[in-house]
Amino acid sequence: MKVLVYSAREFEIPYLESANSHKHKLTFLKEALSSKTAIKAVGYDAISIFSADEACFLTIEKLKDFGVKYITLRSVGYDNVNLRAALRLGIKVANVPAYSPFAIAEHAVALLLALNRKLIESNRRVSQFNFNLNQLVGFDLNEKTIGIIGTGRIGAVMSKIMHGFGCELLGYDIETNYELVNKYNMTYNSLANLCAESDIISIHVPLNEDTHHLINEDLISEMKDGVVIINTARGAVLNTNHIIDGLKSRKIGALGIDVYENEKGVFFKDYSLDVPIDDNMIIKLNALPNVLITGHHAFLTEEALTNIAETTIYNLNCWEQRINSENELTS
Ligand code: NAI
Repeated sequence: MKVLVYSAREFEIPYLESANSHKHKLTFLKEALSSKTAIKAVGYDAISIFSADEACFLTIEKLKDFGVKYITLRSVGYDNVNLRAALRLGIKVANVPAYSPFAIAEHAVALLLALNRKLIESNRRVSQFNFNLNQLVGFDLNEKTIGIIGTGRIGAVMSKIMHGFGCELLGYDIETNYELVNKYNMTYNSLANLCAESDIISIHVPLNEDTHHLINEDLISEMKDGVVIINTARGAVLNTNHIIDGLKSRKIGALGIDVYENEKGVFFKDYSLDVPIDDNMIIKLNALPNVLITGHHAFLTEEALTNIAETTIYNLNCWEQRINSENELTS
């Protein structure tokens, strides 16, 4: 199969090439998929995309006209694909449903620990031979209450890790994960209760019409003073402007994010030597000392990259052999 890999990054190409072992003809393109770059897919049977690619209705229509039959996502989340359009136009779409929930949950914990124990500031001081400890006080995680919003694959691993730290677990999800209730004493709550009672809140729900701006000023106003919020799911689950207000008023003690509401067109690019970045929210967030941002790299472990590459090639193999992949989102 001829496959155009959009948004191909240096670090993932060796994993994809190794999983493919010359089976499909892969072409790697740095650019992201959009209605403008869809034209590059002329002559390809399939394309592969990541979270920064935009497969909206118009783009999918164009892909159909250009002869593309398959889209395989190198991600869990598929909020950037208009599945209804794909279904209507007969383009098959598949994702990588679970490449490593450990990679993401462990990154969420890394954000939490770095923020709480002020590791970045501590290291900055030490690198300048400043060994002053003032304003580096954190808190014990032991016996603190953590609210896990979304208790699926990643939320479950996060629950297990935080149980290991000695935290009390509150959960919010549309489905109860009884394993977490039985093994880790998780108590399911309304979202409002979870927000009101948690010292730490970690987000693990997909972005969809129900979770867009799920965390807003009403919920923030009910949270404990100094609450720590961690988001490794999707940026727009938080209303970022409301979060910035909460940080400024010190209602929110700290924010750790690997995803950002406006990350499309911003993340995965180097603006350090270019024209100044034209995005006020990220400028404001970057200016706050109690905010730690990573650029959507929670998935960046060897295990996750291997699984992403293998599942991507598996999805293509299934389509070539005319069998349905269990990872299909359009069946
Ligand atoms: P999952 O499907 O296993 O779990 C999601 C959970 O959210 C499910 O238990 C589901 O019932 C719940 N949920 C869905 N809609 C809800 C709603 N409206 N209200 C409450 N709960 C709701 O997914 P998984 O693997 O745990 O991934 C979660 C999200 O993490 C993905 O959708 C993706 O957006 C994000 N992610 C981020 C990565 C990163 O690199 N930062 C990498 C992988 C995933």
